Amino acid sequence: MDVTYKDLREWLEQVEKLGELKRVENASWEEDAGMLAEMLAHSDDGPAVLMDSFPGYPQGFRILLNANGARKRIAHTLGCDPDISKLNLVDAFKKKLDGLKPVPPVIVETGPVMENVMKGEAVDLYKFPTPKWHLEDGGRYLGTGSYDITRDPDTGIVNLGTYRVMVQDKNKAGFYISPGKHGRIHRDKYFAQGKPCPVAVVVGGDPLLFMAGSLEVPQDVCEYDWAGGLRGAPYKVVVDPVTGLPIPAEAEIVLVGFSYPDEKMDEGPFGEWTGYYASDHRAEPFIRVEAVYHRNDPIILGTPPEKPPYEAHKYREYMRSGMLLESLEKAGIPDVKAAWCHGVGGCRMLNVVSVKTRYAGHAMQAAHVASQCRVGAYIGRLTIVVDDDIDVTDLGDVMWAVCTRCDPASDIDIIKNAWGGPLDPRIHPDSKAKKSFYASRLIIDATMPFDWKERFPKPIGPSPEYKWKTREKWGYLLK
Ligand SMILES: Cc1cc2nc3c(=O)[nH]c(=O)nc-3n(C[C@H](O)[C@H](O)[C@H](O)COP(=O)(O)O)c2cc1C
Repeated sequence: MDVTYKDLREWLEQVEKLGELKRVENASWEEDAGMLAEMLAHSDDGPAVLMDSFPGYPQGFRILLNANGARKRIAHTLGCDPDISKLNLVDAFKKKLDGLKPVPPVIVETGPVMENVMKGEAVDLYKFPTPKWHLEDGGRYLGTGSYDITRDPDTGIVNLGTYRVMVQDKNKAGFYISPGKHGRIHRDKYFAQGKPCPVAVVVGGDPLLFMAGSLEVPQDVCEYDWAGGLRGAPYKVVVDPVTGLPIPAEAEIVLVGFSYPDEKMDEGPFGEWTGYYASDHRAEPFIRVEAVYHRNDPIILGTPPEKPPYEAHKYREYMRSGMLLESLEKAGIPDVKAAWCHGVGGCRMLNVVSVKTRYAGHAMQAAHVASQCRVGAYIGRLTIVVDDDIDVTDLGDVMWAVCTRCDPASDIDIIKNAWGGPLDPRIHPDSKAKKSFYASRLIIDATMPFDWKERFPKPIGPSPEYKWKTREKWGYLLK
């Protein structure tokens, strides 16, 4: 199947036909939006919810919540059968990655995003019903289901990265980017040359582009090209007259401006994906917003982080797992059967890989690469490698393998001084103050020891395939 929508509006129509959309009117942006986002994030297969008619704002200024918080909608967004099973969705996405040919965007003169233009003095970020998402947030965050567009000043490569955006005042937007992220590398390069960094923030638009912005797409590949390749059609972009950056012609809201090397404002605290306010508040660069463009009746895509797993973890379980499989394959590890980046670890802190072991050291090789490749490296914690009779998505099955096949004295490795960041709750505040963000990783080899695998007690089973077959046949009895 292919992606069948061209923008968020068409996606909404299609998802409503699938019975996956509910509507809420006259609720508050101050409290209700945040309450609803948390409830939907922590429900199984909850609907997408479109909020409209916020008191104090014009009708039509909307917020979409939990857009990709359920498998049916995730599959639809990725152009797969909405009724696909869990592991089949990882496989279907991985197949799309295997055949992926990047499709660059096409430049158009203008598009719906230019229906409304605010420039200079007219810029007013308070025009939108931006929620305060969590009770102790330090401000209103317009950018959650959003991405920031930057251009590498050396190579010219454009990056789309989801980095949170806080309304500082009517024409200033704080944006937080962790060390090592592509947008941060771009910004640091401009600042090192004493130059302002041009930025465009896209708030709401094609859900696949947002997903691409929130994933570890390789740094020499632009997310427009990557997502264009996934959907099999180029995105239409308009060249922003202020920054020269390409912005999606069919986006809902876009802010454009510059971040200056010598200017900072207090940013945070903000409820983060680890389930804490771990980076607290700090002085961070901000964007002086020179223009805002938006469609009539604009839709904010709201994806505020919650205690894991939340919406972004639900779709990234599939996508990051597929990308981890791709990274292992590209690193030349044979016979990797499955991977699952567990939502409860924010799809970063608890990643499991299954391997049909072929030689001594095979399992540890897979685990170390899984722990340190770009998809797995940032704020990781535990990487577990299991045999291919284990269902990587089932924590019970995985922990059974850890309990019965791992001898701690010989099957555990620790990697020190790995890629951390201010959002890691386990890094001491004094280290954070010194900008020392290292953290360690635990590698667990829970495969049967390779050199006496043939003599290891035979497991009762079932294999993951047999288990899913059983559930497909008999699962109705459990409903
Ligand atoms: C809802 C959401 C909010 C995010 N917020 C931030 C953020 O504020 N700062 C950050 O560095 N990464 C944030 N991320 C993670 C990045 O989007 C992710 O690491 C992505 O790969 C970054 O793009 P890059 O690889 O091009 O740097 C967020 C992800 C999601 C889904």
